[in-house]
Amino acid sequence: MFKMYRSILILWFISLNFKNIKCQKPKGPDLDCPSLDKGDSYTQSEFLSRLAHECRYDKLLLPSYQTGDAVDVHASAYIYFIQPAEAHDLNFKFHFLLQLRWTDPRLAYQLYSPERVKIIGGNDLRNQVWIPHLYMSNEQSSGLMGTDSKDVLLSIAPDGEVLFSRRLQAVFYCWMNLQKFPFDEQKCSMNLESWKYNSSSLRLMWEEETPVRLSPDLHLTEYALLDYWTNESFVKSDILNMRLGGGKTTGNFSALKFTFKLGREVGYYLMDYFIPSMMIVATSWVTFWLQADAAAPRVTLGTSTMLSFITLASSQSKTLPKVSYIKASEIWFLGCTGFIFSALVEFAFVNTIWRRKKAVNLKEVSSKYILKNALTPKLARKELQKEMQSDSSPQLSKSQSCSSLRAGGGGGGEGDFNNFLTVHSMPAVSVPTITADEGDTNDQGGDKGKGAQAWTTMTPQDIAIWIDKRARLMFPLLFIFFNIIYWTFVYCL
Ligand SMILES: *[C@@H]1O[C@H](CO)[C@@H](O)[C@H](O)[C@H]1NC(C)=O
Ligand SMILES: *[C@@H]1O[C@H](CO)[C@@H](O)[C@H](O)[C@H]1NC(C)=O
Ligand SMILES: *[C@@H]1O[C@H](CO)[C@@H](O)[C@H](O)[C@H]1NC(C)=O
Repeated sequence: MFKMYRSILILWFISLNFKNIKCQKPKGPDLDCPSLDKGDSYTQSEFLSRLAHECRYDKLLLPSYQTGDAVDVHASAYIYFIQPAEAHDLNFKFHFLLQLRWTDPRLAYQLYSPERVKIIGGNDLRNQVWIPHLYMSNEQSSGLMGTDSKDVLLSIAPDGEVLFSRRLQAVFYCWMNLQKFPFDEQKCSMNLESWKYNSSSLRLMWEEETPVRLSPDLHLTEYALLDYWTNESFVKSDILNMRLGGGKTTGNFSALKFTFKLGREVGYYLMDYFIPSMMIVATSWVTFWLQADAAAPRVTLGTSTMLSFITLASSQSKTLPKVSYIKASEIWFLGCTGFIFSALVEFAFVNTIWRRKKAVNLKEVSSKYILKNALTPKLARKELQKEMQSDSSPQLSKSQSCSSLRAGGGGGGEGDFNNFLTVHSMPAVSVPTITADEGDTNDQGGDKGKGAQAWTTMTPQDIAIWIDKRARLMFPLLFIFFNIIYWTFVYCL
């Protein structure tokens, strides 16, 4: 009994399967192919689904697969937004419309539907036809823009010309050379390359007229757009760059390039960095007008100008990538730091001299002798003694000895008076010295007679004041000189 039931069940099962097999009709290429006659009577989407039906249209095949020619894809772009990223990101953000145009003879419908002017559609239409596969080779990220169905537009003309537009946003790398920052000009580009087909099957070219248009409302905050141009080229494919087929499909791949040249707007950097730093450097010179032993104010002035300058510079350099080469802004930084630092060192120097006790004899009041004396007092003294002996007039200098106080007071100028008071307040300093020419103790080194008799004695305080006075002139002059060289380098090289 049970066996009979089982065999009936099996028979039924087999017959069911057999029915199924019988139902699967072999699908011939000519069967079920929808007719295109009276094309005008169909709606747009129905007509297209008939036109691009898989029985007559394979969207994986190139439009020109029958002839074996290359498909010419014409590109154009409309850029309506460029946002230069911060310099340290080395990239640019674009919003643009990319339009590609090519002819697909298989989609020519003027014979079937003579009254139809255009087939226009979005993403659904895009999915039904062949689309060139391109990619942006220097993109950091990109995306189709738009809401739900994304902003893709495709239109097919009666002769089979396909126009494919999409709205894209993309971030492109731009490897900037910042050596002349912030006086630099940058060239950045957008590269469009064929991904799937080499140049014998797909040729990319820019539209002949205005391949790239920029929106008139385009604004760049930190840069000025100086120039832009387009290029067509080939990218060689090999095993290394892993194009399609990994070396099998070797050859050249068509590529398009849009380059734009930007000049950085310097105004911001001038107002926020260069002019303030000039002022800070000038402030550091105030120290030369303070007395050489006024340690507290002079040290405070030096260090505070140094600190405020470093703060200013570091706020500036925070926005930059950490590149290994020296940038123009860093040369400026080094220059200004050098000046502020030298002003501080000058104080240390002058103050050390001020605290010396021995007055010195000078052959001449000139920078050469004073500095020699100030830097190497012992050596200079030795040399001086030798010279004095060889001058054979040791009597002269000895006979005219008097105190430094007298020498200081005798000068008569305001500076000297100041000096006199200071020396007075430091009793340790009043060492008897030798002097020859009381009137010329302080300055005007050049106009002195050069005779052997023209020995001058300067107290350390005199020397300190003399150095400060020189510094008042030398520092601004050197800074102006530095500026001339710097700005010439920046603007003329
Ligand atoms: C790109 O095009 C510009 C202007 O059309 C031209 O000056 C430049 O030499 C071209 N560059 C290359 C690499 O072909
Ligand atoms: C690729 O292009 C270069 C010049 O751009 C040409 O010399 C070379 O023959 C091309 N290769 C192929 C396979 O067409
Ligand atoms: C394109 O690739 C084919 C092989 O798929 C190759 O025969 C042809 O030479 C290549 N063309 C170019 C221009 O590289």
